[in-house]
Amino acid sequence: MPPVPASTFDRGARRNAAVLVTGAGGEVGHGLLKSMHAAGRRDLVAIDLRGVDDAQRSLCRECFVGDICETPLMHRLQAMFEITEIYHLAALLSTRTEFAPEAGHEVNVGGTMNMLRLAADQARSHGKPVKFLFPSSIAVYGCTGPNARREAGPIAEDDFNRPTTMYGCNKLYCEHLGGYYALHYRRLAQDRMDRVVDFRAIRFPGLISADTIPSGGTSDYAAEMIHAAAEGKPYACFVRPDTRIPFMTMPDAISAFLALAAADRECLSRTVYNARAFNPSAGELADLVGEHFPDAQITFEPDEQRQAILDSWPPDCDDTAARNDWGFNPQHDLRSAFEDYLVPGIKAHY
Ligand code: SER
Repeated sequence: MPPVPASTFDRGARRNAAVLVTGAGGEVGHGLLKSMHAAGRRDLVAIDLRGVDDAQRSLCRECFVGDICETPLMHRLQAMFEITEIYHLAALLSTRTEFAPEAGHEVNVGGTMNMLRLAADQARSHGKPVKFLFPSSIAVYGCTGPNARREAGPIAEDDFNRPTTMYGCNKLYCEHLGGYYALHYRRLAQDRMDRVVDFRAIRFPGLISADTIPSGGTSDYAAEMIHAAAEGKPYACFVRPDTRIPFMTMPDAISAFLALAAADRECLSRTVYNARAFNPSAGELADLVGEHFPDAQITFEPDEQRQAILDSWPPDCDDTAARNDWGFNPQHDLRSAFEDYLVPGIKAHY
């Protein structure tokens, strides 16, 4: 009888090590899988409701088309893998969630609960804490009233936690759930394990990528404006020119996520961190786009409702804790974001 390959014995007897990325087919997922694969990771497992593209598939050990709200998928993942880290990116963004708040809640909160539970079950089954990286958002802030934004200055993590969108409520609550799983999970149980989930979150500002256009977000006007100019299409911006929120390039967001993941636990004084790189007004952004694409046709046609969401987000946030604790240091300021990343990247694209 021919020898049975070792892998046959392994099947079922041992689970494969895995780093799980949910929402892997989205904007952040694209950059994250590429960076982690380039850094040598060969245990990436991607999940996305719509699946991932072929390029992404080639970076992963396995890919699943599936819904993180569904329990059978969680059971399958629990049975198949020994999960050491989870990057939980799957979410409905702020604009989309305002059109379907309950659906947003189901994905953004229900899906996150499922992933936290999977992380806790995994940690208890293999005995090591599971790192859980969570992209939170400036949407957790609510600076309402005409003077609140102006007077607040760069907002620190614990201030103005009064979101006015379902998405912001979802993200803020999930930050708290993450803190609970990290510090107090099953706090009265006799067999409780300390820090089953090593929860770490970044409140991302608007993200701008040269490769992809976001969908369903309220900060999307920045990326839409630049991509439209590169394509030679007119763009009607849905906010006023004086609208100002913080932004960051996608490569800086990915590096920040990976730096936070790699940081020593002892260096982290919090579970949730602000991070930002620049905060131009929409008008300043349009001027810069015009410098690089002289034929750009950008007009401003504010949508009152989406404008009100942006008017509740802070014009800037304070990322001192991220800089001090884990060395957050974005490479792109506004000018270099355009000159070194966005313009060359987007021109190559179209
Ligand atoms: N960029 C996100 C959005 O606009 C906010 O985190 O929904």
